[in-house]
Amino acid sequence: MTKKITLRRHIENNGLILIALMMVLIFWVFDTLSSGPFLTRAAIAALVIIYGIFTQGLINSRKQALEEKERTQQQLIQTEKLAALGSVAAGVAHEVKNPLAIIVQGVEYLKKALQDDALLADVAARIEKSAIRADNIVKALLGFARQIAIKTEEADIAPLIDETILLVDHQINRKHIRVEKQYASGLPQVVMDSSQIRQVLINLFMNAIEAMSEGGVLSIRTGPAMGEDSQPLVQVVVSDTGEGIPEDRLQKVFDPFFTTKDKLGNTGLGLSISKGIIDRHQGTVVIESETGRGTFVTIGLPASRIEKSAGPNQ
Ligand SMILES: Nc1ncnc2c1ncn2[C@@H]1O[C@H](COP(=O)(O)OP(=O)(O)OP(=O)(O)O)[C@@H](O)[C@H]1O
Ligand SMILES: [Mg+2]
Repeated sequence: MTKKITLRRHIENNGLILIALMMVLIFWVFDTLSSGPFLTRAAIAALVIIYGIFTQGLINSRKQALEEKERTQQQLIQTEKLAALGSVAAGVAHEVKNPLAIIVQGVEYLKKALQDDALLADVAARIEKSAIRADNIVKALLGFARQIAIKTEEADIAPLIDETILLVDHQINRKHIRVEKQYASGLPQVVMDSSQIRQVLINLFMNAIEAMSEGGVLSIRTGPAMGEDSQPLVQVVVSDTGEGIPEDRLQKVFDPFFTTKDKLGNTGLGLSISKGIIDRHQGTVVIESETGRGTFVTIGLPASRIEKSAGPNQ
């Protein structure tokens, strides 16, 4: 699969040069038959090759510019979506929160009152389930709206990871998941809003755990990286050996409310909220996956430019 793509890319990027070389070969054969002077043949051949190389260069740079434009547009669309969601989120969530609280409390009372009637108790239980799900969505929306502003400080990433993984300890143990940590030493501090980055890490850990129904390995690696404009970054790679994400779904995972999980608490907001937080930190996030093998999420957060005094990071 990878080989096919590489070969196609190769032909796309160098097609004109290959055509030019073939033209030279054909020309050479005809020319040899008519036996012209060697220098003329060599000069024409060189001209055809140079023409091929220049034209291919032009086409490649135009193609690169178009790809870059498309990427920027996709990013803009994503940012717009999040901004629009942010502005309606607060209003809607606020309006819906109080009526929902009354429904949840009321159904709790009804469930107790109807416990002798199996059919009605079941109806009440289903209403309660749906109301709790709606309540979770509202809470996530309110959280999302509140997180618009970030308060940054400079802090080490490793202690934050250690502290956050403890919050999902229960789920990790229940599924017999092995956690592997590999922290680079001497990393610079990160310019971040720790409570919001904690939220991002929880989302990533939970996604990894939820993807490994049969257990597996949750691995967390840190290291230095370089962003665009040579901005120094601290990279955190969270990977799992879970079910993976099919290619057609990979485009959608950052969309608000996109979820493939049919559970009470899953709103499909985890990754879009996380992306919003990382964008506000001027960081980067990339997700790579292979169905049946697992998923890698790589986040890059701005590193402090102040040199770390001494010693490893942890
Ligand atoms: N590590 C992963 N492995 C497999 N699929 C994943 C992984 N991370 C995300 N996904 C896919 O992306 C979808 C969106 O993820 P996201 O975290 O935004 O929402 P969610 O996990 O479904 O719901 P919530 O985060 O609200 O609990 C998931 O439903 C799942 O299909
Ligand atoms: Mg999630």
